[in-house]
Amino acid sequence: MIKIIVLLTTALLACAALAGQPVGVPIKIGTNFWNIRGDFKVLYVVNVHTQMSVIQLPNGKFLLIDTIELTDDLRSALDRMTDSGRKIEAIVGVHPFHTTYFKKFYDAFPSVPFYGTPRHLRNIKDVQWQGDLMNEEVRNRWNPDVEIRIPDGAEFEYPEPESTNHFASAWVYHRPSGTIHIDDTVVYADEDSVALRIFGIHKGDMMFHPSINSGLKQYEKAPYAFRDWVLRVIKEWNFDNIVCAHLGNKLGGAKLKLNQTVTSYEPKFRQWTEERRGKY
Ligand SMILES: *[C@@H]1O[C@H](CO)[C@@H](O)[C@H](O)[C@H]1NC(C)=O
Ligand SMILES: [Fe+2]
Repeated sequence: MIKIIVLLTTALLACAALAGQPVGVPIKIGTNFWNIRGDFKVLYVVNVHTQMSVIQLPNGKFLLIDTIELTDDLRSALDRMTDSGRKIEAIVGVHPFHTTYFKKFYDAFPSVPFYGTPRHLRNIKDVQWQGDLMNEEVRNRWNPDVEIRIPDGAEFEYPEPESTNHFASAWVYHRPSGTIHIDDTVVYADEDSVALRIFGIHKGDMMFHPSINSGLKQYEKAPYAFRDWVLRVIKEWNFDNIVCAHLGNKLGGAKLKLNQTVTSYEPKFRQWTEERRGKY
């Protein structure tokens, strides 16, 4: 009983700590790029957040990346930005397991084209999808302002086990604002919280999703394939910000931070490669 009380108190404190960020309102991150935080509770009380982003394209229309709970306030804000949805170019699901809110967006904006991951198309049958991100033509549709890439070395099409492997997600780079939208693959703690400290996570920490080892494919070359892919992103994309679904956003200095993060995993990449020796 006492244990439960301690746990609940800790979790409530964690919520309070994370409440500094406004939820459900578009926050301008840079030129033509807005991020909107959503509530997402683990064990009912620990708010680890989720997100969506809004990108204005050169044609004046708006690309919505991922979805969060569509409250009345958020609906009004999006209606104002997009002329009641008429200026929404498309809505794109980038994380196989961020699926909950697409139906509601589809009901609200039924004539907007929806794109998703293969799992979105398999599982959410009441949305009429126009295509999936395995299709290179879909990923490149909004070039050069927007570039979408799928990590190497990680399972994106059929991630398993479904209950825990939430590692892979398509990364969306918006060139004019120097921002990458990443769901789950990368986690950044932008606030201190008691609950997170129990897990050894402090403000300013960036890490890969805890399911990284099971998320990486089970063959020898997978861990370094992922690392090299991240290094290519660092080299080829000129970014300063990363917006992360969980826990918060790294605004300014994100390239250096991601580089430090990937470097700090070197012993783990080596260990995970060792564990996969001989598997192809
Ligand atoms: C990333 O880190 C490596 C090694 O720590 C360093 O050699 C490289 O210059 C860094 N790159 C960037 C873009 O910071
Ligand atoms: Fe997630």
